[in-house]
Amino acid sequence: MLVNSSQRTQPLTTPVLKLEGLSKSYGKNVALSGIDLHVMPGNTVVVTGPSGCGKSTLLRCIVRLINPDSGRIIVAGEDVTELTYSDLLNVRRSIGFVFQRSNLIQRLTALENVALPLLAANVARNEAGCKAQEALERVGLVGNVVHRRPCELSGGECQRVAIARALAPEPCLMLWDEPTASLDPILVAEVLDVMEDLVKTGGTAMVIVTHEMRFALRAADWLILLNQGKITEQGIPMKVFNNPKSELGVRYCRLLDL
Ligand SMILES: Nc1ncnc2c1ncn2[C@@H]1O[C@H](COP(=O)(O)OP(=O)(O)OP(=O)(O)O)[C@@H](O)[C@H]1O
Ligand SMILES: [Mg+2]
Repeated sequence: MLVNSSQRTQPLTTPVLKLEGLSKSYGKNVALSGIDLHVMPGNTVVVTGPSGCGKSTLLRCIVRLINPDSGRIIVAGEDVTELTYSDLLNVRRSIGFVFQRSNLIQRLTALENVALPLLAANVARNEAGCKAQEALERVGLVGNVVHRRPCELSGGECQRVAIARALAPEPCLMLWDEPTASLDPILVAEVLDVMEDLVKTGGTAMVIVTHEMRFALRAADWLILLNQGKITEQGIPMKVFNNPKSELGVRYCRLLDL
């Protein structure tokens, strides 16, 4: 049985996420090939790379929205590749997922959207309301705004509600798939600030797919550059940017103008 971050009993040296030789092809198209990764508690890994290099496939394999062809996925000590469907649902509840679009339920308020996964996990209504309120506070949404529906919120506020919804169940791991990609530059900065704050104060392990390299430099413990399904560069962000080994790495460095 998996546990959330406040109930965690694993020793701190156990990785929250371990990928070993993860591979996935669609017909002849190799989306991922032999990916190895360790994410320790509280650590933030940024994954980047050109369109189609396998970033979303990687995140979706972790929660088995996509089944890998081979390799192992271990979340908080559990081999996700070997679980029955009901155990897999438990694993998914212990992982927060933030997508490019907020995917909020339009007829529910911000508060109700955030409380919903808690209620679905049989948390009592009062407690779910309190936890949802706390999660909304953590992303800077307080006051009457939490009683508005998504159509009455800005894009940045909607994305903050989506982040609060992922945070509220106190996940042991958060996966982010280009959470700022559909926002205008001002809202990008707003959401990146919220993310950076969570990285620094949260203690939750995170795997963040993003093209925001300055954010990676500030917030990530580890940077992975994917190219055609393989890890082409990895390391502490500043080291990767200071000494890229691949042509793609050099091109990504130029983006930063270091
Ligand atoms: N359901 C699918 N069926 C067939 N091919 C797929 C499927 N999903 C993804 N692919 C292919 O797998 C490769 C990796 O796709 P993926 O969505 O993981 O890339 P990505 O790095 O997330 O790209 P982007 O930056 O555009 O979001 C691509 O070549 C893509 O065309
Ligand atoms: Mg993608």
